[in-house]
Amino acid sequence: MKLLKILVLVLFATAVALPMWMAPTVEGQGSIQEALTTDMDAKTDDLFNNFGARGTPIDECVAEPEPPAAGRGSGTFEDNLFIFSERETIEDGLGPTYNDTGCVECHQFPDSGAFAQNMEFRAGSVANNGNFVDNPGGNLIHARATDSDIVEHINTAQTVKSFRLVLSTLGDGFVECISNTSLQNNVNSQPQGQRGTLTNVPVVEANNALRVGRFGWKAQHASLQSFSGDAYLNEMGITNPFDGGGGNTENPASTADGVIDVTFPSPFDPVEDPEDDGLDVIAFADFMAATRAPGRQNPIPAAARRGEDRFRQIGCEVCHTDTFVTASPGTSINGGAFRVPAALGNKRIHPFSDFALHNIGTGDGIVQNAGQGSANQIRTAPLWGIRARNRLMHDGLTVTIFDAIQRHAGQATAARNAFNGLSAGSRADVIAFVLSL
Ligand code: HEC
Ligand code: HEC
Repeated sequence: MKLLKILVLVLFATAVALPMWMAPTVEGQGSIQEALTTDMDAKTDDLFNNFGARGTPIDECVAEPEPPAAGRGSGTFEDNLFIFSERETIEDGLGPTYNDTGCVECHQFPDSGAFAQNMEFRAGSVANNGNFVDNPGGNLIHARATDSDIVEHINTAQTVKSFRLVLSTLGDGFVECISNTSLQNNVNSQPQGQRGTLTNVPVVEANNALRVGRFGWKAQHASLQSFSGDAYLNEMGITNPFDGGGGNTENPASTADGVIDVTFPSPFDPVEDPEDDGLDVIAFADFMAATRAPGRQNPIPAAARRGEDRFRQIGCEVCHTDTFVTASPGTSINGGAFRVPAALGNKRIHPFSDFALHNIGTGDGIVQNAGQGSANQIRTAPLWGIRARNRLMHDGLTVTIFDAIQRHAGQATAARNAFNGLSAGSRADVIAFVLSL
């Protein structure tokens, strides 16, 4: 009797536990899919990845585009693309100091959201204690202004100077949906001497809750909405609730006559703050989140296939991580401000980056969001889509893959030496592989 009771209990417990124990693996494996990719050809209509509704192309003569009024995911891809592609005017709040008139001016080719080959300029100085100090008025030195009186000029005390190439935003919705844990596990698996540094950065739309940074050359942002709020102010001069400064302060102009406050009401700024209520920012974030990942060259040449094995053998893959799987749909991310949508969850992507900071001897001395230790570090450049560019590295000053590899020192010295030790044919294969991404 007693034995039977126990047997029943054990059987019951197994019946309950078995599916619980098996379900996640079965479900998890079954539902992971390759992320949709774009062929990186502007003539093909293949940019939308099914996050949110597609909508219909905007014709302003018929109707103005509608931003996502009910938060992320509530608008349409076509509306958001239109808003991402709009040129701002002084009446919209453009400037007073700015870099360009619209997101698409710098994120344009081969498809909207991807590259431009222009550069931004950052500067500052080094204090006696060795710390980086922003240029007075901020480390971003704008390329343009709405008035020649406030065009920015740095002084000779600013000894740290850096150019930064435009990054592509294609497929960034998938990157946003990688969990902190996946990024951490990957870095933890790297050999000690090459281990990348991940830093927690504030998510503005979640009351500055911290999340692992992954966007920008310094991995200075963790969410597309925070990056967009920052870019709207810093690239275009449009103050907004997600700009990191409360939405009521323009970047001061750092001129030869000193730092000039140009915030409304100033002779330079006729528009009250915030200049955007935040809805454009959400439209930008959602447009980028709804783009497909950069796809491979098609067909992949035989040399590139051979080069892929070499790339792994010589240790490039340590930092240029080939595969991540995004968190499952419904997972709360960005400090609770966003849930992984079905179109972006459980997707396998091939960014060829660990999104971590490394010292490979190219650090530009600038510090943003991460601590002083990041001055000499740069985020591993994601290699997906790189075949569309002919200016390379964060400063855009390298023009061949061969020379980009030669600039790898510090934590990447062993990989560079291993590359240089290959036969000429194998080196050409590695380069063919990189140019197939
Ligand atoms: C003047 C050119 C320019 C304009 C205009 C511009 N960007 Fe960028 N964008 C850049 C550069 C340069 C970077 C790399 C910045 C860095 O890390 O220093 C970048 C990086 C980004 C990234 C990070 C991509 C990644 O995968 O790491 C996002 C997201 C982004 N921009 C969004 C936007 C949005 C949204 C707008 C419009 C509000 C915008 N950008 C306008 C030049 C521009
Ligand atoms: C220790 C980490 C690490 C290793 C190992 C490594 N890289 Fe990199 N790689 C980086 C970082 C960091 C950057 C960005 C540097 C910069 O822009 O200053 C980069 C940039 C690049 C770029 C330029 C990308 C762009 O967007 O312009 C190429 C190409 C590249 N790496 C190829 C390789 C190849 C090939 C190997 C193997 C021989 C390799 N890397 C090994 C960290 C690494």
